[in-house]
Amino acid sequence: ELEREIKELEQLFWVSGKKLQQITLRFIEELEEGLAANGKTIPMNITWVEGFPTGNETGTYLTLDLGGTNLRVCKVTLSGKGQHSLTQKEYQLPDELKKSSAYDLWSYIADSLRKFIDEHPFSGHHERNPIPLGFTFSYPATQHSIDHGILQTWTKGLEISGVEGEDVARQLRDAMTERDLPIRLVALANDTVGALMASAYADPNTIIGAIFGTGCNGAYMENVKSIRKIQDKHHEYDQDAKMAINCEYGAFDNELRVLPRTKYDSIVDEQSPKPGEQAFEKMSAGLYLGEIFRLVVRDLHTRGLLFKDQNARCLDEGYSIDTAFLSKIEDDDGQAFAQAVTELEELLGLSISENESGYLRRLAEMINTRGARLCVCGVAAICKKQGIKEGHVAADGGVVKRSPKFKARWDQAIREVLELESEEDTPIRLTSAEDGSGVGLTIITAMTMGKGK
Ligand code: BG6
Ligand code: GLC
Repeated sequence: ELEREIKELEQLFWVSGKKLQQITLRFIEELEEGLAANGKTIPMNITWVEGFPTGNETGTYLTLDLGGTNLRVCKVTLSGKGQHSLTQKEYQLPDELKKSSAYDLWSYIADSLRKFIDEHPFSGHHERNPIPLGFTFSYPATQHSIDHGILQTWTKGLEISGVEGEDVARQLRDAMTERDLPIRLVALANDTVGALMASAYADPNTIIGAIFGTGCNGAYMENVKSIRKIQDKHHEYDQDAKMAINCEYGAFDNELRVLPRTKYDSIVDEQSPKPGEQAFEKMSAGLYLGEIFRLVVRDLHTRGLLFKDQNARCLDEGYSIDTAFLSKIEDDDGQAFAQAVTELEELLGLSISENESGYLRRLAEMINTRGARLCVCGVAAICKKQGIKEGHVAADGGVVKRSPKFKARWDQAIREVLELESEEDTPIRLTSAEDGSGVGLTIITAMTMGKGK
């Protein structure tokens, strides 16, 4: 009976090549809609990052990263000729801060910056000559300039009051001023834009900066003249001027026209702090894959198909299964697999039979496979829309880094979407992004200050 049920689930979670193509076509429409007007489902945020770096950028900068798993602060020196050196520190973002207030958030961040510059002094900087800061803010923001960003909506489960609709750059500046920090916020950019710029600095074939991590999103260089929603500014730009667009495509298909949602995805959405938002991200990103797994397993237990006669109330706790676990249980190394099963037994206080552990592995595979295949659609849509036939998709984030099978699945799916012969090497290749929030934001800050010409 369990075998039959798992087979049905495998069908339910399988997204065919045809379906991926259909999703990609709708994706292209949404990307275009976002470029034409404000307030669309995919917002296609303007970044004011205009063109790729020259490699001549120089200077020493401070960077701050908020939006992935950790809070990271770096001191980066660019010595020109594409070279850099970096010192960094990661600070934990305490869980209670994720549901706190603007004041608590920016106080914590400004205190972390203070600690960092105390431990890693920047010479020659003082109140009148402050340290230039580049801020990676990995949430959707409306930017009227590069040193400004109004949070559109929190994503990735954050519920911090008093930030949505506000300029996060101003809020951070206020917290720094209150502490007399000799720091000046020069540039704010998304993590995808950081990945795009850092990677382009090192690899001229870079076409997209993509994050497959806690969230799922991408950025690319658009022709300014194709960004219809800033038509009133077109006269200020050359015919071939470019600007990076932070798509925020985690919000793709919030209207649910094409995404193959299951009842488990609906529960994830309903129980999130933002129902109806980030529909695409909730099926493909690291924050949610473990949660989908938990919901399927709990359902099978409730129906008497798994962990029969055992008390599995532990399965009721939301987000108790980390997405990293899914990659471990589908590891082909028998020892890693066995270790993952033991870990799950300990976490849930259950005993898992050999038969059951095989089924759990299949569940992890189907959820991860669906996620990786869906991830292709955003990238394929950008490439098709831009007429890009080859290049490197600079990827970062826990999902691509921790899941050894992600790349093969992604490669397979992109071949299906682009209708390439199955054996052919795909010309749109996933590469591993350079450090976006450290080096990327440093480059953007240097460019903003005119230190790269
Ligand atoms: C890091 C980048 O490597 O990956 C961050 O420096 C980015 O800018 C992060 O946000 C995304 O991964 P995750 O898994 O932490 O969301
Ligand atoms: C979410 C955020 C987006 C970010 C992505 C990856 O989708 O909204 O800004 O780029 O996660 O971190």
